[in-house]
Amino acid sequence: MEQTLSIIKPDAVSKGVIGKIIDRFEENGLRVAAMKKIKLSSEDAGAFYAVHKERPFFGELVEFMTSGPVVVMVLEGENAVVKNRELMGATNPKEAAKGTIRADFATSIDANAVHGSDSLENAKIEINFFFSGQNIH
Ligand code: CMP
Repeated sequence: MEQTLSIIKPDAVSKGVIGKIIDRFEENGLRVAAMKKIKLSSEDAGAFYAVHKERPFFGELVEFMTSGPVVVMVLEGENAVVKNRELMGATNPKEAAKGTIRADFATSIDANAVHGSDSLENAKIEINFFFSGQNIH
């Protein structure tokens, strides 16, 4: 059993597809172990995406992630990290495989509907960023 962090981004929240996205996870063996709807501050988003600080898109990324509320979840299941990334599809929705969350709900590389941890190691760090142990069930 693995745990991974998923964020439903502001574009998907404002489109009203939170339920449809969670359905993809639950239909594919990923259980929601923790969940909350929050609005990130610039400090929160900058700290969460600190690995991208030097990338040219960092400013736009922080601006987009703070443009509206997000839903943050811990997903649990077998091979949760890889399975979540398969369900999400490629970062750029134009390259995302048919039937993936980003192909179906995302519009651009910034407004790409969801974030998911890229490794088990980062999943632990990202989960700790948003949730304490007693809030993961
Ligand atoms: P995410 O999985 O949340 O991780 C970092 C985010 O930066 C990524 O999804 C994209 O939404 C955003 N981003 C914007 N431009 C780029 C880019 N050129 N390469 C990778 N990520 C980008």
